[in-house]
Amino acid sequence: MTMDTIDRADASAIAGHSARTPHVTAESYRELYAASVADPEAFWAEQAQRLEWSTPFTKVKNTDFTLGQVSIKWFEDGQLNVAANCIDRHLETRADQTAIIFEPDDPATEAQHITYRELHRSVCRMANIMEDLGVRKGDRVVIYLPMIPEAAYAMLACARIGAIHSIVFAGFSPDALASRINGCDAKLVITADHAPRGGRKTPLKANTDAALLHCKDSVKLLMVRRTGEQTSWIDGRDFDYNELALEADDHSEPVPVDAEHPLFVLYTSGSTGQPKGVVHSTGGYLLFAAMTHEMVFDYHEGDVYWCTADVGWVTGHSYIVYGPLANGATTLMFEGVPTWPDAGRFWQVCEKHKVNQFYTAPTAIRALMGQGKEWVEKYDLSSLRILGTVGEPINPEAWNWYNEVVGGSRCPIVDTWWQTETGGHLLTPLPGAIDTKPGSATLPFFGVQPVVLDPHTGEEIHETECEGVLCIKDSWPAQMRTVWGDHDRFEKTYFSDYKGYYFSGDGCRRDADGYYWITGRVDDVINVSGHRMGTAEVESALVAHAKVAEAAVVGYPHPIKGQGIYCYVTLMNGVEPSDELCKELEKWVRTEIGPIAKPDLIQWAPGLPKTRSGKIMRRILRKIAEDDFGALGDTSTLAEPAVVDDLIDNRMNRA
Ligand code: WT7
Repeated sequence: MTMDTIDRADASAIAGHSARTPHVTAESYRELYAASVADPEAFWAEQAQRLEWSTPFTKVKNTDFTLGQVSIKWFEDGQLNVAANCIDRHLETRADQTAIIFEPDDPATEAQHITYRELHRSVCRMANIMEDLGVRKGDRVVIYLPMIPEAAYAMLACARIGAIHSIVFAGFSPDALASRINGCDAKLVITADHAPRGGRKTPLKANTDAALLHCKDSVKLLMVRRTGEQTSWIDGRDFDYNELALEADDHSEPVPVDAEHPLFVLYTSGSTGQPKGVVHSTGGYLLFAAMTHEMVFDYHEGDVYWCTADVGWVTGHSYIVYGPLANGATTLMFEGVPTWPDAGRFWQVCEKHKVNQFYTAPTAIRALMGQGKEWVEKYDLSSLRILGTVGEPINPEAWNWYNEVVGGSRCPIVDTWWQTETGGHLLTPLPGAIDTKPGSATLPFFGVQPVVLDPHTGEEIHETECEGVLCIKDSWPAQMRTVWGDHDRFEKTYFSDYKGYYFSGDGCRRDADGYYWITGRVDDVINVSGHRMGTAEVESALVAHAKVAEAAVVGYPHPIKGQGIYCYVTLMNGVEPSDELCKELEKWVRTEIGPIAKPDLIQWAPGLPKTRSGKIMRRILRKIAEDDFGALGDTSTLAEPAVVDDLIDNRMNRA
């Protein structure tokens, strides 16, 4: 009998799933929530006991949202190590329990079950390899890997030695990778030969080689062999992980760091300029990730939990790696895609590993819904207990399908609203405690104080039923601490529009029951298949092309992606529009940013609607892209009103 069968047998002994008591009940939610906002210090001091501190803290909360002096500190005089919390402290009780189930892209390849003991060894080896390559506490390490266990080893190895990781999603281009390596001045990039996904392969090593042409010569490269194919090699710069791991010592002492020591930087798009490096802390972040993972997914001992995100996004950080492992959970890492080899892949994996909690994005649900329920019904999904969604508002049709077809109308759905910046769930149902409504992220998690502000006056709206912009009144432990290298930008982006509040960038509605309904971004950020994209980034990629004079990018409703990327492009004088040029621009954006930024629609625009001072009127462009030009509003301030008629006549999205 393998360790894994013991693991599963134990799990089913504990199971009889429906009989278990949820961690939070309706009554305890109300009581605990009230306590959490009445006395945050006492509440969080007590909750923080779920972590192992090498130096206990005496201070709990020290936060200030005042513009000009924004400062967020939690447990500032305490010390701990994230890897020790996610691995070492479990060894006494669960060394032989599966920590990570790795399900590879190709279903014909066997899954791996990695125990906490094995995880410990692999992370120690990786930590020693990194130290041998010169990585020290506080140094930055970029991780550009497929969804393989080594991605988790690399994250935890950084945490173990106090290095700061910055993961770059494997779908990003060499240019995007280079700007992130340079942005945080990384010493080392960890990559793989190739990333298999959906039966295809991304040449990660070749991409990294291309990126490093634009980086300091001193940056080293550590390569994990995933497919084993031949790659280029630069002696002295490139190092072979698999070879080094054979020799590396599997002991490494976790280095205690201050609670405020950065655990990671993660680049995310904003409404202006280049992506910003969101900085997360060690103590507050881990506490909040662990606590939300346990309560929101009602995670119980022995459960098998699966979040389908990629570790390249914050969801993968908090809810594949840090939250689950801090709780001693079994977390599934999936390398593939929902629709390959066929549209039953997710459900086949759920059946195969007897998944209890399943967490995915609305875009995946919509795509699978379109393939028909036969794909779901082929599999035994009786192990499922909780379903989660994240990334964008879920339309009630998709919610109902998820509930009925996937969940058999017996699994609570947790629609979790949060952001890269928030580190963990802020608005979310708690199974067993908060009744759900299709499309609503319902109520705040403990300690979170959402407010709805009037976008014009900036005043808090006190009526229960209202609509406005969503802000948060006071800090929570996993709040981002700063923008890497640019604290000013942090203050300007999140604390300057609405003084004294954290501004989320989202609009929302609050209903008569006090439930929150996210209505989408109110800034120039769009949400494409749950991926956040700054329209400004796509615009700067387009205008970098020699034939493009000007470009404006907006989102428009897309049946599967949520929002699609709609580009208005003005060509240089003398350049003729053509289908070939359209393809060329699509390809251009893919190589500048990555496949996720590929334009869905390109409209040739002889002119863009501008005010007399030259500002592009995006409101109008959004309306035309939405095919809703009957309601263009006031166009009297336009310099040349006729350009609008041309854009309407030639619009690309016709219902
Ligand atoms: C933006 C944050 C946080 C993990 C994934 C995305 C949108 C996120 C929901 C939800 C409605 C949602 C918001 C938010 N969003 N979750 N449950 N309902 N909208 O992280 O890339 O930082 O994007 O995603 O617009 O601001 P992100």
